[in-house]
Amino acid sequence: MTSNIERMAVAARELGVRVRPHAKTHKVPEIARLQLAAGATGITLAKVSEAEVFADAGIENVFLAYQVVAPAALERLVRLAGRAKLRCAVDSCAGAELLSRAAKDGGIELEVMLEIDLGIGRTGARAGAPACELAQRIADLPSLRLVGVYGFRGFAASADGPAAREAWGRAEGEALVSAAEDLRSIGLPITEVSAGSTPTALPAGSVPGVTEIRPGQYLFGCANVVAQGAMQAEQVALFAQATVISRPADDRAVVDAGSKTLSSDASWQPGRGFGYLASDPATLVMGLWEEHGVLRLGERSKGLRVGDRVSIVPNHVCSAINLHERLIGVRDDRIEVTWKIAARGRIE
Ligand SMILES: Cc1ncc(COP(=O)(O)O)c(C=O)c1O
Repeated sequence: MTSNIERMAVAARELGVRVRPHAKTHKVPEIARLQLAAGATGITLAKVSEAEVFADAGIENVFLAYQVVAPAALERLVRLAGRAKLRCAVDSCAGAELLSRAAKDGGIELEVMLEIDLGIGRTGARAGAPACELAQRIADLPSLRLVGVYGFRGFAASADGPAAREAWGRAEGEALVSAAEDLRSIGLPITEVSAGSTPTALPAGSVPGVTEIRPGQYLFGCANVVAQGAMQAEQVALFAQATVISRPADDRAVVDAGSKTLSSDASWQPGRGFGYLASDPATLVMGLWEEHGVLRLGERSKGLRVGDRVSIVPNHVCSAINLHERLIGVRDDRIEVTWKIAARGRIE
């Protein structure tokens, strides 16, 4: 984990972009502190309730890359803004008006980032005239200060190798820089251009004009990040420890890690189940019940016996971590630290 933090920090420094890691991946303030110590300029989060936990721990520079519109969440957001340096996200006029009214009533000013739709079928304003019109409306609203644009594109696993991922990431950076230029051309003082996920952070960050990248999963990696080609299997640093509880057939073992341990997030590679053994990537978690994980054993793992311990790499690190109370930090086979996953379950 520490090498993953360092690798991203060094690469970003070389590109001249700031790193604002997405801390929803780990939800642990102590880990955010390690990322900040390595040079991160703040963190990204999604939910207000997550940001409350980090602010309680003294981590106050937060970009909430999420549309906050529910009245209770807006109330908490405004209260939190009194003790944290928050930056918020908008992608609609209705959302911006709600945010503006809440900020005005609370007597505060909020920095906002306009989300640009990067074509993944989620949130974001369409680049060009729609984004310009919306940005102008936001700029005219009281108690909001539009400072930048951001977008999220991710990258689906691809058989086309690193060049495909890099081109995809560069296109993300170029789309955001171009959207920022559009807004500047109508007189809006846009200073922030925030891009990137684990697979696209560095290629997007290499585009002149991108100011910040927001990778999250790079911290630990997982089966899907390896499938994206964004990390090597050897760089994965998060494992679910499990015990073989049954050995019903020559090619099948059952472990005490099911959907409540690994999450049931699907694999981005067809036929790869719900995770794999760190010691043997050919051994896959092919069946998942709440408390049972069914391993289809590769040749190297056919010697597994009831009681044996195994390390499983889950498909999606963020969903897996959110299921647990603690992370156990191990260095050179020795337990070094235990962290409470303080913001787990914080979804409001
Ligand atoms: C808005 C936003 N930014 C950044 C990220 C981080 O991407 P990744 O999980 O690939 O590191 C996410 C992940 O979902 C996201 O939604």
